Amino acid sequence: MKTMDISTTIYNVKIDSPFVVASSGLTATVDRIKNLESYGASAIILKSIFEEEILLDYSEIYKSGEMGETEEFFDYYDYEIRHNRINSYIQLISEAKKAVKIPVIASINCTSAKEWISFAKTIESADADAIELNLFMLPDDINQTAEYYSERFYKIVSSVKSTVSIPVGVKIGHYFTNMGATIQKMAELSDGVTLFNRYTVPDIDIKTENTIMGSILSGENEYHESLRWIGLMSHKCNNALVASTGIHDTETAIKLLLSGASAVQIASAIYQHGPEFLSKAKNELIKWMNEHNHESLQTVKGKLASNRATSNVFERTQFLRNFHSFNNGEAR
Ligand SMILES: Cc1cc2nc3c(=O)[nH]c(=O)nc-3n(C[C@H](O)[C@H](O)[C@H](O)COP(=O)(O)O)c2cc1C
Repeated sequence: MKTMDISTTIYNVKIDSPFVVASSGLTATVDRIKNLESYGASAIILKSIFEEEILLDYSEIYKSGEMGETEEFFDYYDYEIRHNRINSYIQLISEAKKAVKIPVIASINCTSAKEWISFAKTIESADADAIELNLFMLPDDINQTAEYYSERFYKIVSSVKSTVSIPVGVKIGHYFTNMGATIQKMAELSDGVTLFNRYTVPDIDIKTENTIMGSILSGENEYHESLRWIGLMSHKCNNALVASTGIHDTETAIKLLLSGASAVQIASAIYQHGPEFLSKAKNELIKWMNEHNHESLQTVKGKLASNRATSNVFERTQFLRNFHSFNNGEAR
């Protein structure tokens, strides 16, 4: 087999292959990160530190009455809890950086600009290779406009970007009114955009008639929206888009690269198949590139991004033509 160049980038950080481990419990300890590197992960995105998490700790101590009632205690615990959380995250970054050669990308889940600006600087000083902003707010406030949510996110990205000199990537969900323009704007403001984050999903148990959490892990058919939007937008975003959600085999990873992703982030498939998934994916990608005469990932990435010939598939949303048997009610 010929030697293949499968190197690429995520958020302007160079990586040896497109297979990046997504932010999750898989990347929450140094031992797990070392193990992922040994199986060929090209970079890891650390488990996020959540604004919500810090606030939860805070309210639990408050409820327990441990902190008393005075404002002085309030301030003390606020400082103390935040400090501990932040310190252990910083420690994770610097220990991971010492333990592995692959890029270590920190992840912060933010909903407000203020809280995270100083934190982003601390992350930079802990030697992280980049920061991923996990941006999400459920847009269920009927008194807010669509612009309120997108402007708030743009403000967070611009503030963090102007605060640090390491690359800043953004991971978003698909609850935006004007998806194309939002992706393009996010890409302009940052070093790359991951499409899409997957959240915990609601479900209902009809036996007990209770609400429950839906599946924590993604399914193998969940990649199509990432494929659509990467296909439609990669060439309008300086090829700075990264794929996430539903990548359960090498074939899907290759599809996303062909649509224009510069790298793919994986969590559920590694939870299900172990880190061996990564080494297998790397070998299968090289084998496929050999069979298809690609010597470098450069000729793979974006080969099937939306253009005159392919836009029909990326843009199609309605069941108009070509579905005769379904429209006749015949398909089973
Ligand atoms: C158990 C678990 C924990 C996760 N924790 C985080 C997190 O802390 N921050 C984040 O941005 N995404 C988190 N995610 C989302 C993943 O990074 C990823 O975007 C999502 O699972 C879709 O990719 P997949 O289909 O490969 O799982 C988590 C996912 C799982 C399954």
